Amino acid sequence: MEVAVTAGHDKGPDMRVTVAGVELRSPVIAASGTFGYGVEFEEIVALGKIGAFVTKGLSREPMAGNPAPRVIETAAGMMNAIGLQNMGVRAFVEEKLPKLRAIPGAVVIANVFGYTMDDCAEVIEVLNDAEGVAMYELNASCPNTAHGGMSFGVDPDALYWLSKRCREVADKAGRPLMVKLSPNVTDIGLMAKVSADAGVGAVSLVNTFVSLSIDVETRRPRIANVTGGLSGPAIKPIAVRMVHEVAKAVSIPIVGMGGITKAEDAVEFMLAGATAVQVGTASYADPRAVENIASGLKKWCAGHQVSEVRSLTRGLRV
Ligand SMILES: Cc1cc2nc3c(=O)[nH]c(=O)nc-3n(C[C@H](O)[C@H](O)[C@H](O)COP(=O)(O)O)c2cc1C
Repeated sequence: MEVAVTAGHDKGPDMRVTVAGVELRSPVIAASGTFGYGVEFEEIVALGKIGAFVTKGLSREPMAGNPAPRVIETAAGMMNAIGLQNMGVRAFVEEKLPKLRAIPGAVVIANVFGYTMDDCAEVIEVLNDAEGVAMYELNASCPNTAHGGMSFGVDPDALYWLSKRCREVADKAGRPLMVKLSPNVTDIGLMAKVSADAGVGAVSLVNTFVSLSIDVETRRPRIANVTGGLSGPAIKPIAVRMVHEVAKAVSIPIVGMGGITKAEDAVEFMLAGATAVQVGTASYADPRAVENIASGLKKWCAGHQVSEVRSLTRGLRV
């Protein structure tokens, strides 16, 4: 197993956490789809100093994504229907990964998806042969084309088999698999449980909420795809509630996200049950959001006599 090696830690609170055997120097991670392939942020963010970052979703073949408009702002959030545009896993391995490998201390989590189980497994197989990936994050919100297009992530049976298959492939490289859960379900605890039963190392949540915004003058959807995924502060309390439900359902590590813009938001997710957190939409307003939230979290811990950030996890008092 490739484990991120951190050379001890500075004075002050110990910010290290471990997710599925991978040690991170900070619990704050850049979320998939909002941080490119990492290299785009190289000049702005010290990639070797943040907890980790998750790549854009990678598929077997390159994908062009949906027609524009694909992103709009909403009250306290944004909607997107990018359509999982990406360069394809093979181009990522050839063009981006060598640059990421050259950044000392950078922890790369590869986000993977596919429209069939075979597609997902193939993406992981390709990555297995390449150095420089610490962990996989499987985006389960993708439609399962072999079964009528219903998302893998909303069908417990499909999610179990997908998680098991992908975990077995990831095992061949000794890399942990984290399953990213869809929030568009009635019982997210059950979805986490079937993933845990399939032997995955961690779950992450939430992905975006299916939503619709209408231009009342034209009476047309404001996003060309009609519906889009809602993210940002608008979803935070729902996401925190879902992390809490998942924490009651499983004992594997949880990576929480949804609307985090400041240190206290990260603390909330950790108290609800998260070991680490991801920051997505906030990086659009401030490309340094991940770094700023990480340093804010360290200050928050110091100011609250929290000597080890990991002690916050599951700290909710009810
Ligand atoms: C523009 C955009 C693109 C995204 N692309 C992906 C993706 O490719 N794969 C994925 O698993 N999640 C993707 N997400 C979801 C985010 O990683 C995250 O789960 C979600 O936005 C909630 O966190 P936030 O409120 O901090 O943004 C995307 C989100 C946005 C806003």
